[in-house]
Amino acid sequence: MLAIIGGSGLTQLSTLEVLRREVARTPYGEPSGALTFGRLAGREVVFLARHGYGHTIPPHRVNYRANIWALKNAGADSIVSVASVGGIRRDCVPGALVVPDQILDYTWGRAHTFSDRIDTLVRHIDFTIPYDEGVRCRIFRAAREAGVEMIDGAVYAATQGPRLETAAEIDRFERDGADLVGMTGMPEAALARELELPYAAINVVSNYAAGRETSAQNVHFECIEQVLQEAMLRVRNVLAHICADCK
Ligand code: HPA
Repeated sequence: MLAIIGGSGLTQLSTLEVLRREVARTPYGEPSGALTFGRLAGREVVFLARHGYGHTIPPHRVNYRANIWALKNAGADSIVSVASVGGIRRDCVPGALVVPDQILDYTWGRAHTFSDRIDTLVRHIDFTIPYDEGVRCRIFRAAREAGVEMIDGAVYAATQGPRLETAAEIDRFERDGADLVGMTGMPEAALARELELPYAAINVVSNYAAGRETSAQNVHFECIEQVLQEAMLRVRNVLAHICADCK
């Protein structure tokens, strides 16, 4: 069963035929909300709103461990994460959909591993290729079928938030090699790897990153909502095709 984690602009999957909602308990506390089980294009999926269904949980307070653990425990065998980002690279313009292939992690103080007991063997995961290539391919195949354009490959910089960045921070991220900036990609991706859940992301560029183009002086929040609304129509379409393609 595919799991979909929705971020800003996707707290609900209106195209989902809801079958049941389940409040999950985990050894790591409570997930962001009840797991929503439903059918999309005739396939069972489980959906979780990362920031809660009322969008009240800030990025640094999301219980990423509980979310990933609950999805695995519910029978998810792969995860597609949807999250909005700021665009740094020239082609990552507002409205673009990007499937990243690398990560830079600037977050701090988040519960970022399941391996944090001092009385069990330390487990190191390989994270050279942080996103699962199989899930990435499923996204691209679905996008092609849906006639939706997706950018293949970008370096995602995970920042702490909830504030946006300074222009100098974006310059630094770019020097480091970042193409996109967002607040929720980590530790989510690493935790999925720890639980051996194939994971990939669809990043929706909602704005130019701080200091760039129309964000030269400030980020225009009033435009973000509109960009996300339109872009999420395309994302929902792609998600339905991913499900339709499921064996
Ligand atoms: N920075 C960080 N996270 C974001 C942004 C941004 O500009 N836009 C959407 N999520």
